[in-house]
Amino acid sequence: MYKSYSIKDIFILKTDEIVKVKGWVQSRRDSKTGFSFINMKDGSCGQTLQIIAKNSLKNYFTEVIKLTKDCSLEVEGKIIVSQGSKQTIEIASTSIKIIGWIKKSENYPISSKKHSLEFLRNHLHLRSRTNVIGAISRVRHQLFHAIHDFFYKRNFFWLNTPILTSNDCEGGGQLFEVNNTNQKKKFFKDKTFLTVSGQFHLESYCMSMSKVYSFGPSFRAERSNTYRHLSEFWMLEAEIAFANLQDSIEIAKDLLHSSIQNIIKQCEKDLLILEFFSGTKLLENLKKFLLKKFVCIEYTEAINILEKSNKKFEEKAKWGIDLQSEHERFLCEDYFSSPLIIKNYPKAIKPFYMKINDDSDTVAGADIIIPGIGEIVGGGQREERPEVLEHRMKEHSNMTNNLSWYQDLRDYGTVPHSGFGMGFERLLSYVTGSKNIRDVSPFPRTPGKLLL
Ligand code: 4AD
Ligand code: MG
Repeated sequence: MYKSYSIKDIFILKTDEIVKVKGWVQSRRDSKTGFSFINMKDGSCGQTLQIIAKNSLKNYFTEVIKLTKDCSLEVEGKIIVSQGSKQTIEIASTSIKIIGWIKKSENYPISSKKHSLEFLRNHLHLRSRTNVIGAISRVRHQLFHAIHDFFYKRNFFWLNTPILTSNDCEGGGQLFEVNNTNQKKKFFKDKTFLTVSGQFHLESYCMSMSKVYSFGPSFRAERSNTYRHLSEFWMLEAEIAFANLQDSIEIAKDLLHSSIQNIIKQCEKDLLILEFFSGTKLLENLKKFLLKKFVCIEYTEAINILEKSNKKFEEKAKWGIDLQSEHERFLCEDYFSSPLIIKNYPKAIKPFYMKINDDSDTVAGADIIIPGIGEIVGGGQREERPEVLEHRMKEHSNMTNNLSWYQDLRDYGTVPHSGFGMGFERLLSYVTGSKNIRDVSPFPRTPGKLLL
């Protein structure tokens, strides 16, 4: 029995080693002199492994020369130095076992030609077979680890906040309601929703464990059919006790830097695949991002700049408006051409939990905006004063859910604390140079679309 290896591991083995590899055909080419080249992939890396199949193989004429893209195989053979210039090593096969054929290959949607991302979005169950979605999937995996690693090294505790909840943290009413079917009696007494944010639950643990974070799915029933909105997305949320607005901004900035650095280091080959696919300078752009300083401005300053600019916006900028993506992108991409932090927003446009500043008109909230994406991080300091929080909750007359437990956190040993949320798929769109967030979520859910 030969030992099985992934293709990624084969590339670090020595020549003459006898190995077994399992995977799928990327392409097959037959030479005129009695053998075929099979390029094989197994998803472990973006590289393919070249297999030399001689016509002396017992199933060469009956099977090997009929192989088409994405047939699955088990190959045994010896690692040898490749004669070709495209790869350093290849496998001289002694056995090729076909595990699965492609039925009616003429109808198979994934061919070896380049498919558009729009086309692939209509074949979600097959699209990870392409180089581009394969590369994005590996970067997604690495980014997930990079984020956990960042918090682990800084002694934050990871906490899984619930997916089923009775509260509407952001107060935007963009909730998916959950109901039990086939049962007359309600399962939970309270109205139950899919979480829009784990922040409140995170705050409760922050009040004892000081530095906590959660990382899981969030759901928003907002009818925003844009390149940066998903109805189901992953959010990273951090909450820090004894911390003010600036403290949380610094951590969010470090998180962005450290994650991008990690991806450049660990996923260079996949970034090159993505660069080739999109024809952009992805790696160079990411490296440039690391060198740029974040510009930090007040909301009021942002409005002044927008008012003075000659640019026509769909929504006219004036103090009090909620900044739209067109405003954020103008400031970030055209005006400053730099990652941008906007802080101290009018209290009326932000949720009740944000801390009221001394001017009593603004709250200590901040958004981080990056080029091509727009808002990637939203957060700030929380209102920790019990009376002020109570007053703010009363002001929001549409608040229906029972949040007395949230007020308890202020009544029992309150401390100043701050935190933020970062959209995982938005960061992934940025690091993979993807223009549409639907391409970085394995099974995207967007308004009206739940394909599988
Ligand atoms: O700005 P948001 O709504 O903030 C919160 O939910 C806070 N409770 C977070 C906190 O302070 N703990 O969402 C945070 C981030 C946004 O900046 C954005 O990157 C991402 O989550 N996000 C989305 N990403 C994809 N699709 C959507 N529909 C998103 N909505 C928000
Ligand atoms: Mg926000």
